[in-house]
Amino acid sequence: MKNDSKIPHHIAIIMDGNGRWAEKRGLPRNAGHMEGAKRVSEIVEGCLEIGVEYLSIYAFSKENWRRPREEVTGIMKLTEYFFKHQFRTLRDKGVYFVHLGEKKGLPDFVLRIINEIEKNNVENPKMYLCIGFNYSGRDEIVRACRKMFNQLSRGDISPEDISERTFSNYLDTAGIPDPDLLIRTAGEMRVSNFLLWQIAYSEFWITETLWPDFTVKHLRKAISEYQKRYRKFGGL
Ligand code: IPE
Ligand code: IPE
Ligand code: MG
Repeated sequence: MKNDSKIPHHIAIIMDGNGRWAEKRGLPRNAGHMEGAKRVSEIVEGCLEIGVEYLSIYAFSKENWRRPREEVTGIMKLTEYFFKHQFRTLRDKGVYFVHLGEKKGLPDFVLRIINEIEKNNVENPKMYLCIGFNYSGRDEIVRACRKMFNQLSRGDISPEDISERTFSNYLDTAGIPDPDLLIRTAGEMRVSNFLLWQIAYSEFWITETLWPDFTVKHLRKAISEYQKRYRKFGGL
């Protein structure tokens, strides 16, 4: 990729449009989620090749529990498919898994899979794959406050210790740099509660392409658009 110096360190993706992809083909919505899950490893491999160090993907929001039970069950079962059939290969290539979101509320079989993957993470990661599953940005901030207030009330920290930097360490993304580039597929112009704190200065790239149709070519296009942006962070 040209202009390697401007490869984003961290890309976040709101993977949207699985349902529309399936509906367009007269298929059940879960067929779209299945096809979407397959794209994940292709895009992770693309990131590995390009040299992106962190990829955060939004797979299931806390608000997505509002969907019909059958669809939710299908998505929960997909975690099994993804981790058993796809993640293994990625792990062997040096991909480290990070869960973003609340573990409480997830079905036991999903928790077991997540815990198992976390326990067996690679020792020398080439890349970090953060998956938002039962995640919402506001919930993450509230959970962070709760952890912080517990430490405050025990006297482990004092109010003066709280800064933007220390607060970030209570978030699920502790230690991970903020996304440089935020991609959303399927054309919606909103953040839908993804990484609210972390995207303060991320560059947005939105495509009409539905997630199951998203390829490494699209990823490269997003990165080359990003490379043309001039980031000011409030300065000149
Ligand atoms: C994104 O695709 C995946 C999840 C939110 C789980 P959608 O299922 O939201 O697809 P559309 O927006 O209905 O097309
Ligand atoms: C955002 O997509 C959540 C995920 C991609 C997991 P949604 O399809 O749920 O977002 P809205 O409802 O269109 O805002
Ligand atoms: Mg959607």
